[in-house]
Amino acid sequence: MVKRKFGWTNVEVPIIGQGTWMIEGSQAREQRAVAALRLGLDLGLTHIDTAEMYGNGRAEELTAEAIGARRSEVFLVSKVLPSNASYDGTLRACERSLNRLGTDTLDLYLLHWSGRHPIRETMRAMETLVQRGCIRFIGVSNLDLDELKEAQRALRHERLACNQVLYHLGDRGIEYRLLPYCAEQQIAVVAYSPFGHSGFPSPAGRGGRVLAGIARNQGRTARQVVLNFLVRRPGVFTIPKASRKEHVLENSQSLEWELSGEDLNAIDEAFPAPDHEVPLGML
Ligand SMILES: NC(=O)c1ccc[n+]([C@@H]2O[C@H](COP(=O)([O-])OP(=O)(O)OC[C@H]3O[C@@H](n4cnc5c(N)ncnc54)[C@H](OP(=O)(O)O)[C@@H]3O)[C@@H](O)[C@H]2O)c1
Repeated sequence: MVKRKFGWTNVEVPIIGQGTWMIEGSQAREQRAVAALRLGLDLGLTHIDTAEMYGNGRAEELTAEAIGARRSEVFLVSKVLPSNASYDGTLRACERSLNRLGTDTLDLYLLHWSGRHPIRETMRAMETLVQRGCIRFIGVSNLDLDELKEAQRALRHERLACNQVLYHLGDRGIEYRLLPYCAEQQIAVVAYSPFGHSGFPSPAGRGGRVLAGIARNQGRTARQVVLNFLVRRPGVFTIPKASRKEHVLENSQSLEWELSGEDLNAIDEAFPAPDHEVPLGML
């Protein structure tokens, strides 16, 4: 899997990683998801995104099961819930996540979205976690420009490494202001729900037909075209969730080939980016 430098850090991270939202459920469903995550690791999709929220911690336990003895291969990311994101609450939440994940250190820890606790308190806790060696890098998620700047200002000793945000063909709002700002500040942008969670364009609709045409010409699939498009700019990563092995394999083959100028224009026309400021989308 192709890697790139993660924001200002010197760490090379796979451009396509793996999400873990909604991997919990019946035993059969969970075992299928664990097997899919493991195949992803074999294929180099070693950036794994989880959160204390997912299945009330169950997704973190399943992530630990999938990783097993391969912890050193993984760029492991988890998130604190806004309701836990006071100074003390963040420290405690991180400890619980580390226990569920069976590890001493997270590579990246994110505030999941902003809530009632002041961002400066959460960021102070994040700096304590870095000092204690519990996390390597600090990030945020679902923060629009003003809150992102507030988080940056709140950090005294560390720099913000990433903003994880909604980005898919049906919501290209970040391209207007947030993405250029993050590029300028060397903050990695991690695109979540790259397939719109469950709203992938129907092959029968106009957009779906455009994607199918590009995919046919490129000898690829529509999903591969989408992932390739979303990470076309430097500094952008994505974390599709796939709990079926065939989906993981398909997603892993989305890079190392290029969309033509004509393909990019066709996508822009079918799925236009806004030409003005829009509020940050969120799931
Ligand atoms: N920070 C946040 O607030 C936030 C919010 C949402 C998501 N996230 C993160 O981003 C990750 C991805 O987002 P998401 O889970 O919302 O949705 P997504 O990745 O856009 O889509 C997941 C869906 O696409 C299907 N899929 C994946 N690859 C496929 C393929 N090659 N062909 C056909 N279907 C395919 C999956 O099916 P199968 O599972 O059956 O394979 C699943 O139903 C999450 O898991 C989570 O880690 C973060």
